[in-house]
Amino acid sequence: MTGLKTTKNTAITIFGGTGDLTYRKLIPGLYNLHAIGKLKENFKIIIPGRRNYTTSKYIEIIKPWIEKYSRKKVTEELFNEFSKRISYFKMNIPETEDYKKLQDFYKKEDIEEHIYYYAVAPAMFLKITKGIKTYLKENKAKVIIEKPFGENLEDATKLNEELSTFFDKNNIFHIDHYLGKEMIQNILSVRFNNAIFKNIWNKDIIESVQITASETVGVESRASYYDKSGAVRDMLQNHLLQVLSIVAMEEPKGDMKKEQLNLLKAIKPCENIEESLILGQYEGYLKEENVSKNSKTETYVALKLEIDNERWKGVPFFIRTGKRMLTRETQVVIKFKSENKAPQNMLVIKIQPTEGIYLKFNVKKPGSVNTLKEVSMDFCQSCILESKINTPEAYERLLYAALKGNKMLFSKWEHIVTSWHYIDDLMKKYKESSSKLYTYPQDSMGPVEANRLTDWILD
Ligand code: BG6
Repeated sequence: MTGLKTTKNTAITIFGGTGDLTYRKLIPGLYNLHAIGKLKENFKIIIPGRRNYTTSKYIEIIKPWIEKYSRKKVTEELFNEFSKRISYFKMNIPETEDYKKLQDFYKKEDIEEHIYYYAVAPAMFLKITKGIKTYLKENKAKVIIEKPFGENLEDATKLNEELSTFFDKNNIFHIDHYLGKEMIQNILSVRFNNAIFKNIWNKDIIESVQITASETVGVESRASYYDKSGAVRDMLQNHLLQVLSIVAMEEPKGDMKKEQLNLLKAIKPCENIEESLILGQYEGYLKEENVSKNSKTETYVALKLEIDNERWKGVPFFIRTGKRMLTRETQVVIKFKSENKAPQNMLVIKIQPTEGIYLKFNVKKPGSVNTLKEVSMDFCQSCILESKINTPEAYERLLYAALKGNKMLFSKWEHIVTSWHYIDDLMKKYKESSSKLYTYPQDSMGPVEANRLTDWILD
């Protein structure tokens, strides 16, 4: 079997192991780690769940998902080896008493080191922690927690306090899978290792910054979660504020998390909600399964914000994200100030699905005396087959980092607190304002009202 030997048996227990996230991301991620020899020989994967599955039934279910979503090829031999790591364990996750059975199972399997993965709705976090705390004594365990961490700051604080009664602070991993994306990490290299970008990354040269994460999918089968959350809590509070913090932070001298935090703290509280925040809902959302019939949940958000520090004074940052939009595209656009009234230079960091860097600038039109022509340089990283095959997917990278105890790629608790502060205040102002919830057609770029904020690139 592929793998490195160590003495203690270790297990990752995935709560929510029959959910979409596990099938699409976690299991394929673990399969990849297995395929490249990064899992110890005695590393187990435990899937507790209330469904009446056997382990072999569960293995049969996950095979097509791995075939579809894993970057490593599925061969019979590798898959058989991988599936030996897996056990399905029937239990009722919210039921504290059932954790006694789980403990007995761990004993039988001789598992001494634990990683728990909470891939469930936040409402379940407390119940699972109670069960673990009551019966599972090994408190060196690690816990990986999916976002959103609570529904607001108060909620998040309660969760954090409860988790801290059992797990050591250093063993709590708040996952934000955007931090594991190749091109998000690349922002650091582009910004700080190129004189041509590093020295112009400020208010004197940059006119505005746009961050877009448009999705073509709708709520799919997740409405019971999404309808309570909405785009602001699902994408903005976590992923997109994290991206913003990396795009705009000061150069880290050591601790990058500290610089991200300083940046998050410097976001100016919103002063004019009507001119800064546009929320939308796609047409047909109210007919989706499990969506309440008069739901006011937003599936789109566009936001203008400012950062109150020397580097960025007066520079608007625009962030938007939405479901059922025309294209699936995540990108950061840096618009530079115009020189001599010429068309503006533009740098686009393409995060997904294409990964790359695009730069637009001006040259003289050949043969003309003084006419300008806009041209571009386009580096497509994901077009290079080798990069594609060798680039770990975000979840694979983050799972491995958590196994190794490396917290660099995870959100810090202080980031979560600061983001919730900003978002709670924003949503309170929105509720108190006369702002509407706009509808937008499916396959569009969102409500036209969002064009009030700026000229979006990628319309
Ligand atoms: C998740 C959100 O965190 O991120 C989903 O809950 C969203 O609603 C997803 O679709 C987007 O992730 P990615 O990697 O496809 O951009």
